[in-house]
Amino acid sequence: MSDDYLLKVEDLTISLDVDKASIPIVEGVNFAIKPGRVFALVGESGSGKTIVSLSILRLLGKGVRITGGKILFKDNNGKTVDILKLNPKGKDIQAIRAAQIGMIFQEPMSSFSPVHTIGNQIEEVVNLHLDLDKKQARQKCIEMLGKVGIVNPERAFDQYPFEFSGGMRQRAMIARAMICNPKLLIADEPTTALDVTIQAQILKLMKNLQNELNMANLFISHNIGVIAQIADDVAIMYMGKIVEQGPVRDILRKPQHPYTKGLLRAIPHLADIGRSRRLEPIAGSVPNLFERPNGCPFAARCSQFIENICDRGFPEKTKLSPDHSVFCYAVAQDVNGSQMQEVVA
Ligand SMILES: Nc1ncnc2c1ncn2[C@@H]1O[C@H](COP(=O)(O)OP(=O)(O)OP(=O)(O)O)[C@@H](O)[C@H]1O
Ligand SMILES: [Mg+2]
Repeated sequence: MSDDYLLKVEDLTISLDVDKASIPIVEGVNFAIKPGRVFALVGESGSGKTIVSLSILRLLGKGVRITGGKILFKDNNGKTVDILKLNPKGKDIQAIRAAQIGMIFQEPMSSFSPVHTIGNQIEEVVNLHLDLDKKQARQKCIEMLGKVGIVNPERAFDQYPFEFSGGMRQRAMIARAMICNPKLLIADEPTTALDVTIQAQILKLMKNLQNELNMANLFISHNIGVIAQIADDVAIMYMGKIVEQGPVRDILRKPQHPYTKGLLRAIPHLADIGRSRRLEPIAGSVPNLFERPNGCPFAARCSQFIENICDRGFPEKTKLSPDHSVFCYAVAQDVNGSQMQEVVA
């Protein structure tokens, strides 16, 4: 993996403590986010996307334990820090949260408090990390509210979250996550709760801000259509594992893993509206965490399942290009088979 990264996750493994057992929910995850790029994590509900993002900020709840790996982050002082070695309650991670890595949370509960004004809640972050007096802090918040497209930001500063529409709240959330100009923004399903028109506006806003501030972005979504609009690089997760990753163009045009192909077949194409093409949901459902199969986790739903192969351990990585890789026995057989033919010829 090249050294040109802002954040690199290596062999991340996270387990859930249930009674006396420890169940893996994220296993051997590897990816790197380059400065200024949008890296997307995609997968069905429960695949582990939120858990991965919360581990980057060391915000995992009770009973969820990081059992292995590294999360290397190049901080503002030019030092490489392994976030997993920091005390989750210590000063070092607090200096990184919000100031260097901003986060838009999936859970509305952990977003804005209903009893404080929007302005106060953004100002709180400014006071924690930036050395500004009261007037300057207020001014900075108002500027940021304007920047995310809130009309009349002066008035919005003194309003309460319930006075905002869903789209406005999401804009305010982006303002709060970006107020300290972090090098990395983590956005966990930032548009899922919004209607399609507002969703498109928010995506456009995020893309513009990301370009303007040259910020990297870890963008999480279960919707591969949204990813197509915003991401540079993509990792597809299934049951806590990455099954395919690469540049967004390769993943969309030349998907290799049967699960990625299934996700793509399940999204509507504008061109198909009114035609006979049917959307094809992926057959079957994600196995229960307690019934994790020994082999490839997608085996039970896979149309390319190979008996006595796919049920024996997780497949090795197959590289299709320096950046595009997939973990699938069927693809590996195809690739190795054609290489063999080349050698024979
Ligand atoms: N605090 C917790 N206690 C118990 N199980 C948890 C906890 N947090 C997550 N899990 C389990 O870990 C797995 C991964 O959860 P995660 O929230 O990361 O999924 P996700 O990919 O973000 O899903 P979604 O698309 O629904 O947000 C799920 O099976 C979930 O039930
Ligand atoms: Mg989630």
